Amino acid sequence: MIRFLSFSHRLTKLALAGLIAAFCTACGSDSDNTSQQDTLDDAVQAEITDRQLTGDPSTGRNLPSIDTPKAQLGKHLFFSKALSGDMDTGCVTCHHPTLGGGDDLSLSVGVDADLPDVLGPGRLHSGAGDHFDGGPTVPRNAPTTFNIGMWDKVLFHDGRVESLGKTASMGGADGMGIRTPDVPFASADPDAGAGLVVAQARFPVTSPEEMKNFGFFNGATNQEVRQFLQERLGDYGTPPGGPLAVNSWLELFQDAYGPSGNSEEVVTFNNMADAIAAYENSQVFVDTPWKAYVEGDTTALTQAQKRGALLFFRSVDEGGADCAACHTGDFFTDEDFHNVAMIQVGRGKGNGATGTEDFGRFRETGLEKDRFAFRTPTLLNVGVTGPWGHAGAFTSMEAFIRQHTDPERGLAEYDWHQIDANVQVDHAQANSQAALDHWLDLLANGESLLPIVELTDREVNDLVAFMDALTDPCVESRECLAPWIPADDELDPDGMRVIAVDMYGEYL
Ligand code: HEC
Ligand code: HEC
Repeated sequence: MIRFLSFSHRLTKLALAGLIAAFCTACGSDSDNTSQQDTLDDAVQAEITDRQLTGDPSTGRNLPSIDTPKAQLGKHLFFSKALSGDMDTGCVTCHHPTLGGGDDLSLSVGVDADLPDVLGPGRLHSGAGDHFDGGPTVPRNAPTTFNIGMWDKVLFHDGRVESLGKTASMGGADGMGIRTPDVPFASADPDAGAGLVVAQARFPVTSPEEMKNFGFFNGATNQEVRQFLQERLGDYGTPPGGPLAVNSWLELFQDAYGPSGNSEEVVTFNNMADAIAAYENSQVFVDTPWKAYVEGDTTALTQAQKRGALLFFRSVDEGGADCAACHTGDFFTDEDFHNVAMIQVGRGKGNGATGTEDFGRFRETGLEKDRFAFRTPTLLNVGVTGPWGHAGAFTSMEAFIRQHTDPERGLAEYDWHQIDANVQVDHAQANSQAALDHWLDLLANGESLLPIVELTDREVNDLVAFMDALTDPCVESRECLAPWIPADDELDPDGMRVIAVDMYGEYL
């Protein structure tokens, strides 16, 4: 039905295009291109005006500069392996600036890598590591930390860190509190800290596969892990694993949290989370070609990108793909959850009969409509945040968009070779089918915002081109990203900095 509608609509569009072409022939060939371009610019401008877009989701937000003492401390913490139980993994292991604020992998490998400082493709779980199965140890794709300060409602693919007020105020600081995995669904975590990003930073250290490991901190509660870490970095107490051999953390904590404070006063886990969040929040990368265009530079986008923008914003009835039904506003997300029948690969989250499924938002709410639903991602910097999808099943944007506009055909035509050979796919076909069947039910009941859209090859290319317009060139430049990466001659507070290299040994 929907296919038919969009097809008949396309005929109308063709007829219109024919009329315009005929009209312009009469205008004379010189003005031909210009007037077509004006028409396209006018149409895109109408969408921008209708949606009240400014191009800049950072407007009105008070985000720290990377030069502040807190963000600088956060940078060193983010890069230190001392934050993981057995001292082999840092936050940066899965969120490196030159890897798009992620790890360039479909699914992350955290602790027990065979070469701890190798990031990206070629990072493998050691055969001697706990729960070795040959594939990645983490069941979901690492999202980017870029522009993290622009989320108002939810963090994580399933929103298990969320602002209970759900107002538009910054980072959940709306007085209603923040729910985290430390407390039951819908209740406020009294220790969450100031904002979603601070709250989130309390958790990677508690995940065995990401940072906690299975050695020194094995069996410790989340609160114990945080206690051990503050003792380890603050050089007090008796944390498992003993004191650090090299330790100049105090000075950095004093710079950020009070020069007169002693270790136990300033080297606290709350300050660690706060400083890490300052570092992450300073990663504002919004200067995209799209922003320049919205701000009035009509040369900032190519014709294909402008056509892609129209497809993106227009509804199916208007001949578009209705992407903005979910990828709304200047941050390109409604911060809501949808089952879009995404291909499911990897170990899974322990759901379903085989334990290899990932029920997504359903895991938190228990609501049937949320089964296989994941948070709508931002599309800013999407050019560097692949592989795409919550399990990183796509390494090609073109293939992603084809699947996203027709999930049934997408699964049938899915190219299993695109993901790393070690990614677990034993149950992937059946697990993806389960998500697809659930989505087809939602669609039949009128409960899905994801339409089936028939696109020509050119339209797919136009959408891909528009996606390219959403990336800030800074994130593609090592030089531009340098402030977010400790320099060689910078103090390494514990000698445990991740000196990141790719699989060929080249420094990142
Ligand atoms: C082993 C890889 C790994 C490590 C190490 C790691 N992360 Fe992540 N991170 C992930 C994955 C995977 C997710 C998504 C998990 C989910 O949604 O269930 C994630 C999610 C996040 C998010 C939420 C992003 C969003 O858009 O919602 C933030 C912020 C983040 N991590 C920051 C950190 C910080 C800070 C640290 C260190 C304290 C850290 N990560 C360590 C893999 C990692
Ligand atoms: C029904 C809401 C909805 C609509 C409509 C929609 N998307 Fe999405 N989109 C999502 C969700 C949810 C995800 C994440 C799915 C997952 O990972 O399981 C996503 C993921 C993506 C991603 C991958 C981003 C990443 O970082 O992994 C891209 C790119 C994307 N969408 C582009 C588009 C385009 C282009 C359109 C229009 C053709 C579109 N979306 C229409 C909800 C939607």
